[in-house]
Amino acid sequence: MAPITDSQIDDLKDLVHKLEARVHDLEHRLESGETKPSLVESMRLILIGPPGAGKGTQAPRIKDRYCICHLATGDMLRAQVAKKTPLGREAKKIMDQGGLVSDDIMINMIKNELDTNRECENGFILDGFPRTVAQAEGLDSMLQAESKPLKHAIELQIDDGLLVSRITGRLIHPASGRSYHKVFNPPKETMKDDVTGEPLIQRTDDNAETLKKRLSTYHEQTAPVVGYYKTRGIWAGIDASQDPEHVWKSILGVFGDSKTTSSSSGILSKIGLR
Ligand code: AP5
Repeated sequence: MAPITDSQIDDLKDLVHKLEARVHDLEHRLESGETKPSLVESMRLILIGPPGAGKGTQAPRIKDRYCICHLATGDMLRAQVAKKTPLGREAKKIMDQGGLVSDDIMINMIKNELDTNRECENGFILDGFPRTVAQAEGLDSMLQAESKPLKHAIELQIDDGLLVSRITGRLIHPASGRSYHKVFNPPKETMKDDVTGEPLIQRTDDNAETLKKRLSTYHEQTAPVVGYYKTRGIWAGIDASQDPEHVWKSILGVFGDSKTTSSSSGILSKIGLR
């Protein structure tokens, strides 16, 4: 028999992930007594917050719970950097200086995903986009064209002073985007991903000097996006200095989704998958 390849393993992981997401969706509907996925259907949201606020920590949980796609523009740009594309080369310079890639490029990147990514059919969570008022306007016009307006703009609020330790201690598994923290969320084995055992890295922009620039870019260019969504009545602010579990509960509160899924009573545990 031919040896199993890495790509076959990745396909299998992808399949298991989709199955899990589907089961979460079914569990959710079962618990809430919904016959139609009304909460899921309306799940179109963005997470706004400074570097290290916890966007990348919370977004995958939202994605899994509601079976929607998670589009992280920072990850999309880092994929271009890894592939050494012309955009990746240009983006790396900007990212390492703590600046922003051009609005047109970012708007088109998101438009392309929303148009073509089948995982986004149930809804989406945007992490790191929009980062300027021009990007927010671009998003609004593409959603208006589909008559599928944004439902929630969640701001993760936290003082800058708390972000230095979060960012300088962060460790990343590049292939999956999983993130850890040396102190707050350490991997089981030093510098190794819990799932694959592959090495963890530190992002090149995760140092105290670049963080200062990223924070000033955030306050100058992204903070006005909060005002933009406040006037549209879909903004909600959350205290992101709490521990991740409390942040998660606050997010569920914004969705009016107070029921938590018990892992021991879920379908997956009943069929022996967790
Ligand atoms: P991007 O990758 O989006 O970076 P960012 O916005 O700076 O956000 P981070 O990923 O640093 O933080 P996070 O909020 O996800 O924190 P995390 O959950 O990992 O963008 C990178 C660059 O790409 C930008 O600077 C820009 O150049 C460019 N770019 C991207 N999008 C763009 C756009 N739309 N337009 C133009 N340019 C764009 O948490 C951080 C750490 O803290 C982790 O180690 C985590 O374990 C820990 N942690 C999380 N929550 C908690 C908690 N509650 N308590 C304790 N520790 C916690």
